[in-house]
Amino acid sequence: MKKLTSLIIAGALSSAVASNYIMAIKYSGNLDGIDSNSPVWKMANFTDIELYPQTTIKLNDKKANALNSANLAKKVKIGAIYNNKNIAFKVVWADASKNVYSNDSTNSYADGFALQFPQNFSDTNKLPYIGMGSKDRAVIVHLQKAYKSLCEPNGNGDIAHQVNRDNSPYFEDELKKFDKQVVELGNVAYQRSFISQGFRSMTQIKDDSINFKASMTFSNNKWEGTFTRPLTDSYLNLDKGAIPVAFAVWDGEKMGRDGLKQLSTWIPVKLIGKSGGEKFVEKMSIKSSGDATNGKKLVTENCTACHSFKGNDNGMPYMAPNLSNIGGYSTTAYLRESILNPSAVVVPGYNRNAHKNYAWYNLDEKGERISAMPPYDWMDEKSVNDMVSFLETLKEEVKK
Ligand code: HEC
Repeated sequence: MKKLTSLIIAGALSSAVASNYIMAIKYSGNLDGIDSNSPVWKMANFTDIELYPQTTIKLNDKKANALNSANLAKKVKIGAIYNNKNIAFKVVWADASKNVYSNDSTNSYADGFALQFPQNFSDTNKLPYIGMGSKDRAVIVHLQKAYKSLCEPNGNGDIAHQVNRDNSPYFEDELKKFDKQVVELGNVAYQRSFISQGFRSMTQIKDDSINFKASMTFSNNKWEGTFTRPLTDSYLNLDKGAIPVAFAVWDGEKMGRDGLKQLSTWIPVKLIGKSGGEKFVEKMSIKSSGDATNGKKLVTENCTACHSFKGNDNGMPYMAPNLSNIGGYSTTAYLRESILNPSAVVVPGYNRNAHKNYAWYNLDEKGERISAMPPYDWMDEKSVNDMVSFLETLKEEVKK
């Protein structure tokens, strides 16, 4: 174990630094109830963040898989503001069509966005798995899907049948009153928070111990999402010099739902005006300085019996996560850890039951998940560095 740690540190020291972070601007006013049109966003400093199609697994849905793997990466603009109570983000992304959740149809999917925060981020080398956290490394996920307001005075969710606008006994004032009631009693079914230590352990937080506000507006083929949450609550302490956050968006038109989304890596957010953030941002920005060409050779020799990625589809499907976008949504520290100590974070493998012979992990006598991937801690440091540098290049192009 000692040997592993020193390898990780040595690797990190010999690396180049590239900075990409979001600045959260301090605001003295109120952030309660802001939306994407609020003037406060004029203060914000917007940063381009790239979101990559999550190609780790395949769903049992051919059409959705095909649409997902044809996706390019998406450039998303993100601004952040904080005050002494809350932190707010505005997320702006292009989307060719507006897809809104509706109760009327079972096979339509909604556009949406999510923010994810690690519960503990004191060690940037041990952040949670980006896809919903991992064992002992929990995340809080806040999810917002585009929805139609539903009013359910009778509990049937059949608002469309309660008012016929074209042939209605209601007149304008009554209609207005009714619409107001819809908003007030609106069933915001798709605004949710989860605590999760891996995909199967996702638990929705239903009580009022967690609080966030989000809204989405669509115009000119663009979504603007705003999100506000307390800096601190019983789940998270974001009142720091810098914090990591990850973003995801779903495209309903492309049948996006659950894991079929576009996802960023952990992005550092520096809370301007608070101290201690520089080191964190610096550590988060470390990239491997290895030789990617040699890394490609080593990965091809050692890893492609199990793993596939774009340009190398030898790996048997279901044997292991597809690495086509691993460089897009992983930190350098995560890639290094995945190679040296695969059981530290075990990607769950959604099709485990359907493909028993290709279990991505087994349980040891204590019930701990042991990865089916062998550790490569016997490799010399340069080779590991080179492979990490190559894995960092595995990502889709960004859509212009
Ligand atoms: C025997 C099959 C096998 C081999 C060989 C193998 N892996 Fe894996 N790998 C897996 C499995 C299964 C997982 C998922 C379980 C886990 O997270 O450890 C995985 C996970 C990973 C992950 C995390 C993927 C994600 O989506 O987060 C990375 C990165 C990775 N492997 C890289 C490598 C590299 C680099 C090599 C070669 C040096 C390699 N693997 C060799 C089976 C393999």
